[in-house]
Amino acid sequence: MINLSDATPFAEGGNRKCYVHPNNPNRCLKVVHPGLLQEIKKNKPWYKRFRSIDSFDDNLREEQAYKQKALIKDNPNLWKHLAKWYGMTKTDIGMASETELIKNDNQIAETLENYLFTYGVTEEIKKSIEEFQMWLRENLILTKNLIPHNLVLKEQDGKIIIKIIDGLGPQAFIPLHDYSTYFAKRYVEKRIKLMWSRINWDLSGRKGNWK
Ligand SMILES: Nc1ncnc2c1ncn2[C@@H]1O[C@H](COP(=O)(O)OP(=O)(O)OP(=O)(O)O)[C@@H](O)[C@H]1O
Ligand SMILES: [Mg+2]
Repeated sequence: MINLSDATPFAEGGNRKCYVHPNNPNRCLKVVHPGLLQEIKKNKPWYKRFRSIDSFDDNLREEQAYKQKALIKDNPNLWKHLAKWYGMTKTDIGMASETELIKNDNQIAETLENYLFTYGVTEEIKKSIEEFQMWLRENLILTKNLIPHNLVLKEQDGKIIIKIIDGLGPQAFIPLHDYSTYFAKRYVEKRIKLMWSRINWDLSGRKGNWK
């Protein structure tokens, strides 16, 4: 079993703590915050309390999301904008998801949010976002809302490549293997539109509602 109780996370979000894998500097281990699942369940409206605790677990949700219809094809291009998935791994602080750690020359990659707050929507990042959109449309990858802090930037061949590191999988419950292309196209278009509203909302001081 992997020991993480003595390790310091390199980052954390609302749901999970992120560690560099102690035996592999190119992999990331994410563990759901202790007690979070019980807390979420307690605070959900009564009608949602009947759902199992597992359905709130971001790692389990992500594990399912990587099995979606679009990703079971054998096409290396699918991974261009997505951290690779290596399964679930036992650690001394709970089950962790193991994924590709996105880095640039040994530095952990920065988020799109961080970039936008520093430089704004530059021509360079606009091109990267457009390329990312094309990939989403071509491959019809289902994601939750695309939020800039869940996208990180990898420098490759003099370009910035956007990588999804969190938020794969559909927004609400839909079957992951049996949906129509028509549905997926509409779904992806909506995520792209909302990604831009979120970017504009972030950059204009987060006033009002972003959706
Ligand atoms: N594979 C990765 N490569 C590089 N950085 C990463 C990776 N995974 C996570 N990070 C960094 O860690 C932060 C938190 O990770 P993540 O978004 O997975 O946590 P979370 O708790 O699920 O987030 P949320 O609050 O959105 O639910 C990210 O915003 C990013 O900066
Ligand atoms: Mg996140």
